[in-house]
Amino acid sequence: MTPLLTVSNLSYCKKDKSWFGKNAGFRLDPLSFELKAGETMAIMGENGSGKSLLAKLLVGVERPNAGEILLNGEPLHHKRQRFQAIRMIFQHTKESLNPALTLGSLLEEPLILNTELDSRARKRKIEETLKLVGMLPEHQFFYRHMLSEGQRQRVAVARALILNPQVLVADEPFAALDPSVRSQTVNLLMKLQRDLGLGFIFISHNLGIVRHISDRILVLEEGKLVESGKTDVIFNWPKSDYTQRLIHAYQALISRDA
Ligand SMILES: Nc1ncnc2c1ncn2[C@@H]1O[C@H](COP(=O)(O)OP(=O)(O)OP(=O)(O)O)[C@@H](O)[C@H]1O
Ligand SMILES: [Mg+2]
Repeated sequence: MTPLLTVSNLSYCKKDKSWFGKNAGFRLDPLSFELKAGETMAIMGENGSGKSLLAKLLVGVERPNAGEILLNGEPLHHKRQRFQAIRMIFQHTKESLNPALTLGSLLEEPLILNTELDSRARKRKIEETLKLVGMLPEHQFFYRHMLSEGQRQRVAVARALILNPQVLVADEPFAALDPSVRSQTVNLLMKLQRDLGLGFIFISHNLGIVRHISDRILVLEEGKLVESGKTDVIFNWPKSDYTQRLIHAYQALISRDA
């Protein structure tokens, strides 16, 4: 069966003439992977290893130097097509939710830009999507500052889902949430992913969540793929010293906080 997402030899290198030397680590060596519908792939790596860069390349915020991204075996020729099909949830809702707009306008914006829906159909879709993430229709009249961070993250999820994407990319989506809201949001995302059959790419330093929700893992070190494999295999039998170090450091942190 054709994978939902096929990434082949995707690479990036920024020509950077700044004083701190060439490229300053903002690069990705050729990287390939596949993602099936309904599958969750986590990206693991230290700060600055290129996780967010990979996410930006996938959603089209940065342009790769080489390589190809196929959706259901077809190249994504148009920006709009990719914008609709591969959606991103950012770490901070400050980045994704404009404080000057009501949540209704925030959710309507992608519909106006990317669909032919009339205003009535847009309103219906907004209310439907708010419900999907456990919010009320009244919330469309709220502004960002009127919500808790947990609710904001739900709205960010709604904004990502409103165009019926096939792939969701989430970059540290739970970092600002307290443990109980975090686990509610994790459960919500897992349920949505299952119900909608989405491919999910998930970036987090929280290896507890990574282990809990991902089917497979890619490990990045300084823009290079160190290893990849099934989640159980990576956690139980990591091949590289780097992956072992990441896992041990996380375990040490957890046992210290326990
Ligand atoms: N716009 C940019 N221009 C130049 N270099 C950048 C830019 N953005 C990030 N970098 C550098 O590229 C490297 C990879 O950054 P990236 O943000 O992908 O790391 P990351 O794995 O997401 O890290 P973190 O875990 O801290 O989020 C880092 O060395 C970073 O300093
Ligand atoms: Mg990052």
